[in-house]
Amino acid sequence: MKGIILAGGRGTRLDPVTRAISKHLLPVYDKPMVYYPLTTLMLAGIREFLLISTPSHLPLYRDLLGDGRDWGIDIEYAEQSKPRGLAEAFIIGEEFIGSDSVALILGDNVLYGNQLVERLRSARNFESGGHIFSYRVDDPENYGVIEFDDDGDIENIVEKPENPPSNDAVIGLYFYDDDVVDIAKSLEPSGRGELEITGVNNAYLDRGALTVTRFGRGMAWLDMGTPEGLQQASNFIATVEKRQGVKIAAPEEVAWRSGWIDTDELMKLTEDLHREDYIAYLQRLPDVSEPGLD
Ligand code: DAU
Repeated sequence: MKGIILAGGRGTRLDPVTRAISKHLLPVYDKPMVYYPLTTLMLAGIREFLLISTPSHLPLYRDLLGDGRDWGIDIEYAEQSKPRGLAEAFIIGEEFIGSDSVALILGDNVLYGNQLVERLRSARNFESGGHIFSYRVDDPENYGVIEFDDDGDIENIVEKPENPPSNDAVIGLYFYDDDVVDIAKSLEPSGRGELEITGVNNAYLDRGALTVTRFGRGMAWLDMGTPEGLQQASNFIATVEKRQGVKIAAPEEVAWRSGWIDTDELMKLTEDLHREDYIAYLQRLPDVSEPGLD
């Protein structure tokens, strides 16, 4: 499975903060926002990435992430000249996807919680079709929302409905087979002029090929698209990191734990870092074998 990180858009809900910088490079406590979705896909076992952003912001991502080799992964880059919708990612990424399955993650989504890795890895094993993830929220009208039938099966997905049929919002993480490229190409722009990811999900649903993992209370799903959401996410990350003495979303750690870089390579990476607590944390990893830290 390949991974696409969508980090374009205008970030208007964070204006004027995002007037001169890409939203997904803003700090979320102690790391750039894009580290969080990137490491989520790395934890799912994905090693080949396409990062999509605007023509003006793309060079900044190249500076930050490079080709990924240091972290045992491969990162390619592609431009989205205008925010024509999430589903355009599959048209832009057609060649990159080839005949593989693909995971799309939105650059402003944070996922953290119990059994996240196991659940991502088992969802990754789907045979064909599409797989989405949902989360109960108090403001479903701001998201794609799942309508369930009496048997608890998905009946429909509605984008930002005025009268939400449930509180189950669709998370910005999607797994699809390679049919997704043709499906994306067949979509018409919605009322807001976008190729909607909800259109992709409903196309899989019409084929009887859409499944869902419903995350419960043990999971945190944070949306960092607004000033409030960004601050809440920063506070959440800071609280957990300080309380447990762990780092959330450190790509060096995920690469090392996944066996994609060895201990020597991990130590070498610390030579290019400048923050003492981050360096000390990575240097300590090979000596720490306490349960709960894996
Ligand atoms: O966060 C989950 C929600 O994401 C889903 O529940 C919705 O079904 C889905 O449509 C999407 O809703 P939003 O309206 O919140 O998406 P937004 O336009 O904010 O874009 C999400 C991210 O993708 C954002 O970081 C900017 C980036 N983006 C967006 C568009 C439309 C792009 O890179 N390119 C685009 O064309």
